[in-house]
Amino acid sequence: MTTPLQNITIFDTTLRDGEQSPGAAMTHEEKLRIAELLDEMGVDVIEAGFPISSPGDFKAVQEISKIVKRASVCGLSRAGFKDIDRAGEALKGARRPRIHTFISTSPVHMKHKLGMGENAVLEAIGASVTRARNYTGEVEWSAEDATRTVPDFLCRCVDVAINAGATVINVPDTVGYSTPQEYYEIIRMLRERVPNADKVVFSTHVHNDLGLAVANSLAGVLAGARQVECTVNGIGERAGNAALEEIVMALKVRKDIMPFTTHINSKLLSRASKLVSSVTGFPVQYNKAIVGKNAFAHESGIHQDGMLKHVETYEIMRPEDVGVHATSLMLGKLSGRHAFRDKLEAMGYVLADDAFEDAFKRFKDLADKKKHVFDEDIAALVDDEIMRGHDAIGVKHLRVESGTGIEPVAALTLTVEGDERRITAEGDGPVDAIFKAIRALYPHTATLQLFQISAVTEGTDAQATVTVRLEEEGRTVTGKASDTDTMAAAAYAYVNALNKLVVKRQKQAPEALTVAQ
Ligand code: KIV
Ligand code: ZN
Repeated sequence: MTTPLQNITIFDTTLRDGEQSPGAAMTHEEKLRIAELLDEMGVDVIEAGFPISSPGDFKAVQEISKIVKRASVCGLSRAGFKDIDRAGEALKGARRPRIHTFISTSPVHMKHKLGMGENAVLEAIGASVTRARNYTGEVEWSAEDATRTVPDFLCRCVDVAINAGATVINVPDTVGYSTPQEYYEIIRMLRERVPNADKVVFSTHVHNDLGLAVANSLAGVLAGARQVECTVNGIGERAGNAALEEIVMALKVRKDIMPFTTHINSKLLSRASKLVSSVTGFPVQYNKAIVGKNAFAHESGIHQDGMLKHVETYEIMRPEDVGVHATSLMLGKLSGRHAFRDKLEAMGYVLADDAFEDAFKRFKDLADKKKHVFDEDIAALVDDEIMRGHDAIGVKHLRVESGTGIEPVAALTLTVEGDERRITAEGDGPVDAIFKAIRALYPHTATLQLFQISAVTEGTDAQATVTVRLEEEGRTVTGKASDTDTMAAAAYAYVNALNKLVVKRQKQAPEALTVAQ
């Protein structure tokens, strides 16, 4: 008789801890798209933001609460009542609201960050959890820097949190310092020593500073944790968090020694990875487990020979299991709306009518320029469409001259709030000339943080995807665009980033919220 697999709750914090990584800021619409996909994928808890930290985070938690159909929606708060009340307020529309409240428990944090002693921290834990319980029955409490906390004190803290009504106890390795054996022991100790530990769910939350985040999380599960906190592509503070796709697939592939399951539809992992990478502008390293471009590529002759004889010689999971399909030849320039819509649906995209019409027109233009249109081309095109939104600034016309022995020149026409503006600018290269022209037509102080080009598919007729990251007064935005003309893609990507900056400036205007405890 086989023993039934126990479920592990997948708590995704891409929109909160993930968004905290430098340069990973997302617009409101991008957060909603990610939340929808996480919900569809089967994530159990979506940590949508830190409501008191900014009006943008508050709004994100509020709106995500309304659109999410099955997952719990979670808002982070420190121990102060203002934080908790703000989180409770933001979560009002959620079917299953969760407040996640935390305070530091390690000696170094208590002394230098909080300036609080043990008794004050214990009191704050009791008060914060009790306050959060007024808003919802799902209250998670975290001991920030738990892995560097004195074990006896950690047990006392967890005891107070449970008595005050916490339903989930999270054990963060905030600085990514722990090792699998050590992390295992901490979870085991808490479950053994704290009274009523069996009434709550223990949760892992591990940072990847030593590259051990996934290993530590799995060690936590083996020790009895039944919730894992993670992010898509492992994005997050510094070296990131545990990668969701790695946790899910490790549990799926190694059921033989880890008898657990999750609600995740692993076939959506690749799509989630691409969406998060495209929104943040953080490329996924080629050799990244599960979702890297080379994760299923077999290059060496010996491997290829083995694979042809029997796939299991070198493959422990199938690419289709994570939503990776062999590049397929797409529609041609004679394909109609119906075939295009079918293709989009097969790829998991659902577009509103006007967005569909725009995407179809762009597909036709692309099919005119490019002999073979692949799935990757369609994905790039639709992502562009969704990234664009209702833009204040648009590229109307671009002509670039460059070559050996001539000064690169860009002649550009932009539309700004319906107004046409034209200029010709020189630069030390064609991209420099284009960006100078944009700056002249739409003056701004943002600085360029990243300029990156990659090919969507193979071949010299491939589309180029350009990523541009701009920074202005602490606000970071990432623009992206694809085109068969690399210079046009560069102009569109820069303008895409500028449009996001315009939106961000407007959103940051409301009352500034204090982040104090
Ligand atoms: O890493 C950490 O300690 C956190 C807490 C807020 C849970 O992200
Ligand atoms: Zn964290």
